[in-house]
Amino acid sequence: MDVSADPEHWKRAAAAAAVAEVEDGMTVGLGTGSTAAHAVLLVGARVARGLRITAVATSRATADAARAAGIPLRAPDGLTAIDLCIDGVDEIDPRLRAIKGGGGAMLIEKIVATLARRNIAIADAAKRVDRLGARPVPIEILPAAQGLVTAAVAALGGSASLRTAHAAPVLTDSGHAILDARFGAIPDPSALARSLSGIPGALGHGLFVTEIDALYCAGPDGLSRQERPADA
Ligand code: A5P
Repeated sequence: MDVSADPEHWKRAAAAAAVAEVEDGMTVGLGTGSTAAHAVLLVGARVARGLRITAVATSRATADAARAAGIPLRAPDGLTAIDLCIDGVDEIDPRLRAIKGGGGAMLIEKIVATLARRNIAIADAAKRVDRLGARPVPIEILPAAQGLVTAAVAALGGSASLRTAHAAPVLTDSGHAILDARFGAIPDPSALARSLSGIPGALGHGLFVTEIDALYCAGPDGLSRQERPADA
């Protein structure tokens, strides 16, 4: 097999570029998902070689992986800023707006990303899109808000369904259900993000419109770095 055609090779290449930005003394947010998992292993390898950092995990799965990799961890609770966050995306557009939450961790991911002075997305080339919306936008909800959020999503032109597995609702690490809202192509991600944020009982959603500062993306054409456009 040609390893250069393997998405895992590209995910690792993007992760390695981001992990190269980690410096001694930093507090580092570690994302969730298969691409972020490469970053966790690479940070762990640098810690084993003497890098001194404290990490903040965005999910239990990432915390477990970080612990296994020997990375010192702390909870995000009480932090008012962190230095750098590295996380994957489900889709990302040319203005570095993204859909996240395929793994259900979008609310904690957004908290950690917003705390971060620099938030780096890492992706293989398949995640790049011209326009967001082929994937659903996940919304973490309170149980009482399920009908309200479903109706609000419909009023916004979308269609929401409860995320389930084995006939039971999938719950986030915080114990909340997830509605996956399908909109099709999203013409104005910022307006949609504002609307979703305003629904009572919608605790958080996976549209990231301002949080991402830079993207490392790897694919058949190699590795690229893109900084957030100044006007975005
Ligand atoms: C986790 O909830 C997500 O936001 C992930 O960051 C996103 O789904 C990307 O995951 P992969 O790197 O596994 O594609």
